[in-house]
Amino acid sequence: MNKKLRQAVIAGNWKMNKTRPEAKALIEELKPIAEKAACGVVICVPYTNLETAVALTAGTNIKVGAENCHFEKSGAFTGEVSADMLKEVGVEYVIIGHSERRQYFGETDVTVNKRTKAALAAGLNVIVCVGEMLDEREKGITDEIVAMQTKVALLGVTAEQLKNVIIAYEPVWAIGTGKTASAEQANEVCSLIRATVAKLYTQADADALTIQYGGSMNPKNAAELLAQPDVDGGLIGGASLKANDFGVLLEAASI
Ligand code: PGA
Repeated sequence: MNKKLRQAVIAGNWKMNKTRPEAKALIEELKPIAEKAACGVVICVPYTNLETAVALTAGTNIKVGAENCHFEKSGAFTGEVSADMLKEVGVEYVIIGHSERRQYFGETDVTVNKRTKAALAAGLNVIVCVGEMLDEREKGITDEIVAMQTKVALLGVTAEQLKNVIIAYEPVWAIGTGKTASAEQANEVCSLIRATVAKLYTQADADALTIQYGGSMNPKNAAELLAQPDVDGGLIGGASLKANDFGVLLEAASI
């Protein structure tokens, strides 16, 4: 009902996929497809593909994002990349707090908050990921978990900075598993996130916030998910690696 107040954004999350020549080929295939999209189009790619992606998408409607960044500006953090470094390369978006970072790399709500604030301070748009594990859903604590993740992620983020935030609701049990949340389940949690944000800021701020669904979104289920009143696009893993599949999702989000 308030969908007109915000932009639907489809963001690809390539994860640890695509060599440089493969990235080049996929982006070239994607360009004419993305051109027709009325929604926001973002591709989040591995660090090694950022420069290639920024160069190849210059002057197009495709925005480039990274998949993580560190919260310090510089220093002795072997293996990490700062938000300023991303900005310097021409990156406009960054994913923070993806469940794979939380599960495999010790990311916590607190580090998600630090990274979110650092990325916003550097002038990046941030896609903050939240979502419950399967046992949390089964125990009936999805709402508490997701509300808590949202609140901690946004601690110290100003209303002005919130304009550069997208929240991606990604139930962990639906990521890369082929299991999708039903359209109703997805909408229910996206709506809870919006209500949580309305309490932290204002209803108008919450209405303007893009809230994506992610987790096995594909050409078959996208239209139903994206038609939900509180689902404003998607964060797409597997289906972002094929230009035609990604194109179907862009079309579904462009209505
Ligand atoms: P998937 O991944 O679409 O492959 O489930 C989504 C994500 O991890 O962002």
